[in-house]
Amino acid sequence: DFGGFFRDETFRDTFTYRNSDPRRFPFPFDRDDYMYAVNLEPHMPGRKGTAFEHMLDVDEHYIAEMIDRAKVLAEDPLRCQSLPHMTLAGWDTLELIMEAKARDYPQWFSLTRDGNRWHWVNRPLGIEQSFTFLDESTLPYPPFEYIMRQTQGDWTLQDERDGTLWMDAGIATSQADWSVDFDVGMNFHEWHAPVPLAHEKGVFDRALKFLLKLQHGAPVRRFNWTMTVNPLLDTAPETYHKWGPMRTTLTQENMGQKMHLRVELQSLYRLPRSNAIAFDIRCYLCSFEQIVTVPKWARRLHRVIRDLPEELATYKGFIRNRDAMVEWLSKCDDGAPTSPGW
Ligand code: HEM
Repeated sequence: DFGGFFRDETFRDTFTYRNSDPRRFPFPFDRDDYMYAVNLEPHMPGRKGTAFEHMLDVDEHYIAEMIDRAKVLAEDPLRCQSLPHMTLAGWDTLELIMEAKARDYPQWFSLTRDGNRWHWVNRPLGIEQSFTFLDESTLPYPPFEYIMRQTQGDWTLQDERDGTLWMDAGIATSQADWSVDFDVGMNFHEWHAPVPLAHEKGVFDRALKFLLKLQHGAPVRRFNWTMTVNPLLDTAPETYHKWGPMRTTLTQENMGQKMHLRVELQSLYRLPRSNAIAFDIRCYLCSFEQIVTVPKWARRLHRVIRDLPEELATYKGFIRNRDAMVEWLSKCDDGAPTSPGW
């Protein structure tokens, strides 16, 4: 039964995206203010009914997100790239994802293996595929693209060389204004160059040091967040002319429906054969209207946005709307203290 999936919801044009239960949303703030930090923690399965219940969350938006991804790739094939030496890391990633989905969602996915002869079934997307592991000619796409067309979240694959990480493969169709085509072949400090304040605080030096020690079988995760006007998955630099102007359409009347908190649940995995690191950036959107149905989230979001350093509000692209957002959110903040933690 695939009745739980919103097959027809849209992240463009008609924007029918919605969450049936906002409490499932991974609210990212554990205090009333926010600053960049090396916020990495073990990626352990969490409470039932949350986005952390399983290693890779498959939620009600799965089918609709995969339809949206296919549209983006049809318009712009450069959204998915893999340099020639990353094919093995692509197979590692395919294995990681197929194993996790078949283990955690056996009602939807199954993987049967007989040596290198594998059989994969993806029931929600109606896919059945027999193939030979590590033989590209037996799949309709290269291994990375094949599995990415069946996986929510943008992913990048990092090769480790010369004491740093190189983004040598990636797909981005649900990104917060960055580009695989621009970043591919860059190293950890290069692709992070546009981020304000974090370099001088040593955040990227410490984060890289931590990642270079990442072990197979011990994934880690962190949150990132930004704001998006309308539930757009694909906010790419390549299509800025289409979605950028939407930022000028906000009023106090439409703020609740149009403004979305965009949360990225990012997880990192050391891959076994290639020794590459896979980075999953999973995007969750929730309208202000739905967020403020949880009173402690309403209070906290108001305070975080009100007090966020100007450099961060500018980088995240909402400085022009910040005052209007704070005005709207202030009506949902009764001034009561909040407790630290989620
Ligand atoms: C932003 C990739 C790991 C912290 C970004 C951006 C990219 C990116 C593409 C956008 C930069 C732009 O404006 O063009 C990656 C990849 C990682 C990784 C591929 C793993 C290999 C980390 C880690 C940290 C981190 C471990 C921990 C501190 C940040 C921060 C931002 C950022 C703070 C700014 C985000 C914002 O304010 O919206 N990252 N990142 N990244 N990254 Fe990473």
